[in-house]
Amino acid sequence: MRLLQASASSIGSKIVIALTGLGLAGFLITHLAGNLLFLVGPEAFNEYSHKLISNPLIYAAEIGLLGIFFLHIAKTVAAVIGNKAARPTGYAVRRWAKTKNPKSRKSVASSSMIATGTIVALFVVTHLATFKFGTFYQTPDGMRDLYRLQLEIFSNPAYVLFYLVAMGILFFHLWHGLVSAMQSLGLDHPQWTPRVMTAGRVLAVVLAAGFFIIPIYTFVLSRSGQ
Ligand code: HEM
Repeated sequence: MRLLQASASSIGSKIVIALTGLGLAGFLITHLAGNLLFLVGPEAFNEYSHKLISNPLIYAAEIGLLGIFFLHIAKTVAAVIGNKAARPTGYAVRRWAKTKNPKSRKSVASSSMIATGTIVALFVVTHLATFKFGTFYQTPDGMRDLYRLQLEIFSNPAYVLFYLVAMGILFFHLWHGLVSAMQSLGLDHPQWTPRVMTAGRVLAVVLAAGFFIIPIYTFVLSRSGQ
């Protein structure tokens, strides 16, 4: 009961948004690691995705992921509506923050988070339609040929451009989101906070760079006639 009350409160919502956001970032790390196998070759990439799809635990993982996505979005929407109904009375000044005006810095960041988050959510829907529910090619040994599908998709420069723009927006969402999540979880230490913030920013750069490389690499490969 207390947990429910806490999660309905503004601080509880912030913590849920932060934890689900970090969970989604965790998914992105594993997703990028799996996708980078495309660079190794068709066998490695298709075998990896085949093992993933044929594992019975995948359904539980997918339901869990969907739940995390849903909570992250629902709590953000509720917080936005709640904030409009009753404007918050100022923000705590962080000891480590260099800005002279933390209030305006925070509101610009939160409105850009809503815009970038909405675009990332729309991207995920089209992304699932393209890949997860896209054409089912099969390898001679009966596995799903996701390598062929990806090669086909990114041979189209329009898709490459769309992915690069979406990954750029994802980068901004992660850049603000990872730092903001750690603040919401109460991280406010003069020495440790700047270090953890830097780690969050490095993770945002690594994830965006990794997801940037894949469409470009696949496009070049598709043009080289491999
Ligand atoms: C260049 C970038 C990306 C590539 C090439 C890529 C590729 C793929 C592929 C091939 C699948 C199908 C896997 C399968 O059905 O086994 C997939 C699924 C998925 N992707 Fe991506 N992805 C990229 C970026 C992203 C990003 C940035 C997100 C989230 C913001 C994302 C979210 C998902 C989700 C949620 C699934 C479904 C996972 C599941 O149901 O198991 N992907 N992706």
